[in-house]
Amino acid sequence: QYVLGRWGFRGLDLAVDRRALIPRPETETLAGAVIDWLRGEVRSRRAGGTAGGTASLQVADLGTGCGAVALAIAQEVPEATVHAADCSADALELAGENLAGLGRAGARVTIARGDWFEAIDPTLDERLDAVVSNPPYVADDEPLPPEVSDWEPHLALRAGEDGLACLGLLVSGARARLRPGGLLALECAPDQTAALVALASARGYDDVEVLDDLAGRPRVVTAHRPAADPPAHQLLSAVRAVRAGGFVVAPTDTVCGVLADYANTAALRRVYAAKRRPESMPVPVLVSGIDQAEQLVMLGDEALEMAQRYWPGALTLVAPRRAAADVGGDGAAAGSTLGVRVPDLGWLRWLASETGPLTGTSANCHGADTLSEAAAAARSLAKPAAHVMDGSAPGGAASTVVDVCGRRPTVLREGALCSADLARQ
Ligand SMILES: C[S@@+](CC[C@H](N)C(=O)[O-])C[C@H]1O[C@@H](n2cnc3c(N)ncnc32)[C@H](O)[C@@H]1O
Repeated sequence: QYVLGRWGFRGLDLAVDRRALIPRPETETLAGAVIDWLRGEVRSRRAGGTAGGTASLQVADLGTGCGAVALAIAQEVPEATVHAADCSADALELAGENLAGLGRAGARVTIARGDWFEAIDPTLDERLDAVVSNPPYVADDEPLPPEVSDWEPHLALRAGEDGLACLGLLVSGARARLRPGGLLALECAPDQTAALVALASARGYDDVEVLDDLAGRPRVVTAHRPAADPPAHQLLSAVRAVRAGGFVVAPTDTVCGVLADYANTAALRRVYAAKRRPESMPVPVLVSGIDQAEQLVMLGDEALEMAQRYWPGALTLVAPRRAAADVGGDGAAAGSTLGVRVPDLGWLRWLASETGPLTGTSANCHGADTLSEAAAAARSLAKPAAHVMDGSAPGGAASTVVDVCGRRPTVLREGALCSADLARQ
């Protein structure tokens, strides 16, 4: 390809040379996923006749290299403005040459140099419709064929011990840049998709999907910032409150809950006092994903199957507690079992991944009815909340509680999931 100096990508004829990675066929799948989704957005905005119906769609292509993905999007989606960025001056020089050859669509592409999101104008925070990237994802010690390692830039390929360093940064960073409902699309190696899916779910994305390339290998992960996600400043206030040892009252996917750092005994005591709940009664814990749950409890094969099937969702598993998870020591957190749940609401998973496991008890005094409106729930408690997230919980059934400590799972409390479904698994 370098001898030819030109390379085709989704109908574009691009200049390629040693300044940037040569676009691969699997990256056409990545670009195609974003293009299809953007076109769907344009159609639904037009059909909905919304005020912003004709406004342009804002897209960031991070680690743009020779510009292939950014230019294909600009070319194929006339409503898109594309912000292409890379940390390599060489790559951007080549991208600039390709942009010059794009014609009129090129007017909707900007190019900037910087480290991932730092190159993107901060006024676009929470306004990007899509973030796309084919970042470096080869583990540092993974051997590469000489035609790759000798000719292509190291910076375009290597990404730490497990190859997930850049992907992790992008998953974490994109959430605060995307508008609610916005799309994150990432290319990765086939053996990285499971880890990337778990990471995206733990970081609070919804509708996480894996797409195959034309050769049938899983190569692209897409995910969305939840459409009803609270604004970033509210989420940061919640993080600060939890880290400072206070508690947050918030609508959850079941009822209104009291969220506090489960690993902080003083915070846990505050929750018990606020609820006037006897410390001998354990509270359930919200976790960001199965990995975080397994730091607290032991999940056998059957429990893991249930977790994989129903999490995120309204299922609390009561499982044997790991010794190291006896955080409270006495009173509140003592006991040999613990109820854990991965909540359906993305921002709750995100909060747990930021702060560690959270108390997931309802925001009402012990024995009183549960409340769906957060401000009213906060007022009903005996201690003030450090932060209240506005809004109402859907008010449906609480989670179904299943004891997975014994030989067979036992339903301890019927809830949103019916026990007949659980028995059928
Ligand atoms: C695998 S290449 C992909 C290039 C192009 N998007 C494509 O698909 O052909 C990864 C790109 O990420 C860029 N990159 C690496 N580290 C970066 C960072 N910290 N910030 C921005 N870009 C980075 C590299 O310079 C390289 O151009």
